[in-house]
Amino acid sequence: MVQQPYVLSARSIVKRFGPTSVLRGFDLSIAPGEVHAFLGGNGAGKSTLIKIISGQHERDGGTLEFDGNEIGASAAAYVEAGAIAVVNQELALLPHLSVAENIAMPRLRRAMRKYSERAAKAVAVEALSLIDPHFARESAERVVGDLTLHERQLVEIARSLGSGARLLLLDEPTANLTAAETARLFAVIRRLIADTKLAVLFVSHRMREIRQIADVCTIIRDGKTAVDRVALDAISDREIVECMGQSVEPDEQSDAIAAHATQTQEGSDVRAKFSVSEGNTITIEHEGISVAIRPGSIVGLAGAPTGPSALITALTGLAADHAWHVKRNGATVAYTSPSAAARDGVGFISGDRANKGILETLPIVDNLVAAQRIVERRGVARKKEVQQGTRLLEALNVRAGSLWDLPSTLSGGTQQKLLVARWLTLKPKLLVLEEPTRGVDIRTKREIYALIRKMAAQGTAVIWWSTEYVELVELCDTVLAFDLDGRPTGVLRHADVDETRLANATGMAA
Ligand SMILES: Nc1ncnc2c1ncn2[C@@H]1O[C@H](COP(=O)(O)OP(=O)(O)OP(=O)(O)O)[C@@H](O)[C@H]1O
Ligand SMILES: [Mg+2]
Repeated sequence: MVQQPYVLSARSIVKRFGPTSVLRGFDLSIAPGEVHAFLGGNGAGKSTLIKIISGQHERDGGTLEFDGNEIGASAAAYVEAGAIAVVNQELALLPHLSVAENIAMPRLRRAMRKYSERAAKAVAVEALSLIDPHFARESAERVVGDLTLHERQLVEIARSLGSGARLLLLDEPTANLTAAETARLFAVIRRLIADTKLAVLFVSHRMREIRQIADVCTIIRDGKTAVDRVALDAISDREIVECMGQSVEPDEQSDAIAAHATQTQEGSDVRAKFSVSEGNTITIEHEGISVAIRPGSIVGLAGAPTGPSALITALTGLAADHAWHVKRNGATVAYTSPSAAARDGVGFISGDRANKGILETLPIVDNLVAAQRIVERRGVARKKEVQQGTRLLEALNVRAGSLWDLPSTLSGGTQQKLLVARWLTLKPKLLVLEEPTRGVDIRTKREIYALIRKMAAQGTAVIWWSTEYVELVELCDTVLAFDLDGRPTGVLRHADVDETRLANATGMAA
């Protein structure tokens, strides 16, 4: 048999962070013209390998070959030259520069062209138009720091596309794209593959997408290759989850977490802080649309980010939004800050970890108890917090070096678990969720669903924005849909919530 010429072969790759061995002799081969799904649970080492292939980390052992040539210590030169393009999981844009500058700078430099604003804008608009022509026109001159997470994701993807690369590394590029945007991204990928025989390494925890776009998969487990280049047609979802080492029944797991959370609650006096009763029904009103969020119910928000973001902003005290009126027991509620909202029993978990959740300069333990400190209006209570932090990490199956490490030493999905853990012990009256499972692996997602359901069953009212329709269909009693301009278009009752109706109500049929 003739050996297939691979664009990239990684053999026996080893990577350690201090005492932790992340990659322990890992192999991966990617062929031209294929979309190769790279699968594994949170913290398995996917982003670490991607950073090695793109020269952001140095490996401690093993060999890397690109187009048959051995790559020395670092692959950075290949990225510099544009042969390897990467979209990192935690976005790497320069916040003080414009969209056009972020996209165009590396390309113009490579082409040895003089930088001019006009040239930069033209390059950026062309790249962005591949996925969103409307966004391309209106965003080129905006400063990246002012964009939402969702918009930054589009910019990061555009930057990597159409740069003439031979290998494209996509680390969870769709984690917060809408169904329609994901479909457009996939169309671009297919076109690039047809035109240029591009090879794509694709990381995602969204099973359906993986099946839509990928041809083969490699699964990483315990730092080694558990499944090597197997066609996706030849492996079932169940087998994939098993090979990832994730076959624990989710219900058992979530019971265990709930037990830990209750144990933690008993040790604190927060339990009685928020009284959860029917009187706590929150009503949100907007030009003729009125939705009641009752204790125990889960209300979904569907649609492009503009509409859900404005409502979430108003509900959590992030900023005033005059279009929305929020009432409890008929009285208007308007929070002046997120901490005021938290003290009044409003919990908030966002998928925009970097900007709305993770305290990057504080250790893991502070990240876990941050909401509790705000609610209790107190400072540090080390002993109790360390016990609580330890229990929460254990319950959520988080492998952390120590509670005193910084969150940046955790994988993306694991950081997201810290944000969810923050609210587990607090019994909020209202829990506002903005893509709370962004980047979380399949098993943990199921655990989080079960936990949120339990919180609802105990009387918390939940409002949940998701770009994944399957999530809304599975979890929500009612869904409030928004159109592309951010206007609410109507309320779907549970029996009417299916993916087609959601796509129609949001104007985002994929
Ligand atoms: N800079 C670092 N210092 C110490 N440990 C690290 C560092 N970066 C990653 N790790 C550890 O390496 C392991 C693998 O992390 P990695 O980010 O590669 O996982 P992943 O497979 O991408 O997970 P996810 O699906 O959650 O994104 C984790 O245990 C993580 O805590
Ligand atoms: Mg990762």
